[in-house]
Amino acid sequence: MKKPLIELVDIDMYFTRSKSLLHKERRVHVLKKLNLKIYEGEILAVVGESGCGKTTVGRIITGLLKPTRGNLLYEGESAINILNMKSKAYKDAVQFIQQDSYAALNPVRTIFQSLYAPIKTKNQRMTHDEIYAEVYQNLVKVGLTPPEEILMKYPHQLSGGQRQRVLMARAISLKPKLIVADEPVSMIDVSLRLSILNLMMDLNKQMNISFVYITHDLATARYIANKGRIAVMYLGEIVELAPVEELLARPRHPYTQALLAAVPIPDPVLAKKDRVVPIKQAEHMDLTNRADGCSFYPRCPYGKEECTKGEIPYKSVEKTKYKCVREIKK
Ligand SMILES: Nc1ncnc2c1ncn2[C@@H]1O[C@H](COP(=O)(O)OP(=O)(O)O)[C@@H](O)[C@H]1O
Ligand SMILES: [Mg+2]
Repeated sequence: MKKPLIELVDIDMYFTRSKSLLHKERRVHVLKKLNLKIYEGEILAVVGESGCGKTTVGRIITGLLKPTRGNLLYEGESAINILNMKSKAYKDAVQFIQQDSYAALNPVRTIFQSLYAPIKTKNQRMTHDEIYAEVYQNLVKVGLTPPEEILMKYPHQLSGGQRQRVLMARAISLKPKLIVADEPVSMIDVSLRLSILNLMMDLNKQMNISFVYITHDLATARYIANKGRIAVMYLGEIVELAPVEELLARPRHPYTQALLAAVPIPDPVLAKKDRVVPIKQAEHMDLTNRADGCSFYPRCPYGKEECTKGEIPYKSVEKTKYKCVREIKK
């Protein structure tokens, strides 16, 4: 495989929740010793339930948030110390597309104004006409045609799907190496979701932009990353990381198995397999004081005493890495 573009090394993230009448101030440990490599040109899907820390990971990768502990490496050698991540080059190279496309655009600016500003900031010497041509081309690239009709509109005059495309146009105008897309299709009409996923796959192929696609939905993850990898997150940890076809055929972690069991599988052979995983309805682990051992233990149907002790090491089997003590039958 190619060299990693970005590497997260032993990232821990704590948030302090403010005091209220009912609660004292609490420090929650939302990412735990998280390691992840993102390769040049790949599509990596990050999947997990709401609250498991996906957006936090996305914001750390894009430099919007400084982790409590750990390091972020960019192209291996030019390691960025996240303590002083003011690097403009990094901010251009790594773009973040957030879930709420309406909030991401200035409501009193036309689409042209919103797309003009970042190009002008980056390339002070470009003339108005050159920037216009660039904006026009980018709108064509993201499928917003004819661009003349889009340029003079305001965000509220576009559909959610069109606004997501505008965000893609803005992101690619900075010539990024990586786009982190945080639940980009969860707020748009189901009928349009596939076309936005296809657009990201096209941009990946044609411009060699890596994508980190963040979602709670395994179905869209396996679609967009069909030749890529999936990282499954549970309570701030990556519990399994594997190429998509491997993860679907041989899920190793009980949480991945439970996620898969909840998705209908079109493959008749796989569908026949007994895929029900009897997850316990226990409470989540307390994040203010994380217990030793496996985060999934309270809900795991296979939990044993050894699961509650120390740090659970990753196992590597073929191209899969997973964090579970259980020996898997072949
Ligand atoms: N700024 C913040 N202050 C306090 N807690 C936060 C903050 N941002 C996120 N959290 C908490 O961190 C955890 C992970 O959040 P998030 O990354 O948004 O998860 P996801 O995107 O997977 O739904 C949640 O428990 C959330 O409440
Ligand atoms: Mg989120």
